[in-house]
Amino acid sequence: MSAPLIPFGKPLLDQAEIDAVVAVLSGTVLVHGPITHEFEQRFAARIGAKHAVSVSSCTAALHLSLFANSIGPGDLVVVPAMTHVATAHAAEFCGARPVFVDVAADTGNLDPAALASAMSPAVRTVMPVHYLGLPCDMEAISGICERNGAFIVEDCALAIDADYDGRKVGTFGLTGCFSFYPIKHITSIEGGMVTTDDPAVAIAIRQRRAFGYDRTVGERTRPGIYDVTVLGYNYRMNEVEAAVGLAQLKKLDAFQGARATNFARLREALVGIDELTVFAPRKGKATSSHYCLNAVLPRDGSIDRDAVVARLNAAGIGTSVHYPCAVPMTSYYREKYGYKTGQFPVSEWLAAQTISLPIGPHLSERDMLRIGAAFKDAVHTSRAQ
Ligand SMILES: Cc1ncc(COP(=O)(O)O)c(C=O)c1O
Repeated sequence: MSAPLIPFGKPLLDQAEIDAVVAVLSGTVLVHGPITHEFEQRFAARIGAKHAVSVSSCTAALHLSLFANSIGPGDLVVVPAMTHVATAHAAEFCGARPVFVDVAADTGNLDPAALASAMSPAVRTVMPVHYLGLPCDMEAISGICERNGAFIVEDCALAIDADYDGRKVGTFGLTGCFSFYPIKHITSIEGGMVTTDDPAVAIAIRQRRAFGYDRTVGERTRPGIYDVTVLGYNYRMNEVEAAVGLAQLKKLDAFQGARATNFARLREALVGIDELTVFAPRKGKATSSHYCLNAVLPRDGSIDRDAVVARLNAAGIGTSVHYPCAVPMTSYYREKYGYKTGQFPVSEWLAAQTISLPIGPHLSERDMLRIGAAFKDAVHTSRAQ
């Protein structure tokens, strides 16, 4: 009998989420309701931000963070070359131009020195992405942005609870943007959250996530009567999603503990593979939220990543890649802006040679040992060929 499959990610949903969803569906309020409000309040408290605004995805959160702060044509937005395309797309949606910056070879995070040389008066926003949960060097990045009059939008899609100098990510920028996609630290099925300490920014984002209405449903004195004072989208989170998210938030402590333990076990199980780079879960003032363990193979391609992945998958171990293409090397950005292979060497190396290994709370110590052994075997076999 073959060993059971170890999926890369698996949402852990039980009767708590089912009961919460059934309660919403048994009522009359499916949007604009109290559950969404409660989820926002509790999320803000968890992160240590003054405000949290729920939205339909992290992509919507990133877009609204730029849109509500008047980013538009002629503006430049700094984006790390190694991220999900959503970060760069947010700038494109606004008609602004993303300026890609390579990442540091020991963390995959925005490199402050590279950022400093990319700054110019046209750069209005910088979007640090906390790669796989490890916070960027927010002290250096904040200093550079302050000196250059740019504001920060943090992409915290994989970094809920990640800590920098005793503060959680999502509290360093003008906004922080989170994702609740099914295999993130917590899920609301699809969903996202914007955190901010600035009340005016919170209001601007709330208005623009709902068509630009001048008053919410609860604020309307005559039902159905409103004015529209700005352009806005339909980026709301609904009550069912919020109910799932809220139930998940209550489990977050347990989930995070399991992730940290699994990360440490798997890291230990991988010791001794000379060719392997595993980014440390702590760097300076930063502590990771342990989204996955990224195993990075040599730059010289002496071990073929895709062959290792194929062997792991054949052994029943699910993997992922973050991210399979440096964003400026995707066809859309390459064709639009003329980027050439070799311009972002670290990001391109990661895209070609990183493997994301599972450490989620759905997995046990035995699973970690199994992944470690299978990884060693896959690298050994690939090396031998
Ligand atoms: C760094 C980063 N930003 C943004 C996103 C987009 O998140 P969502 O699917 O919630 O829009 C992702 C998705 O994985 C991501 O990894």
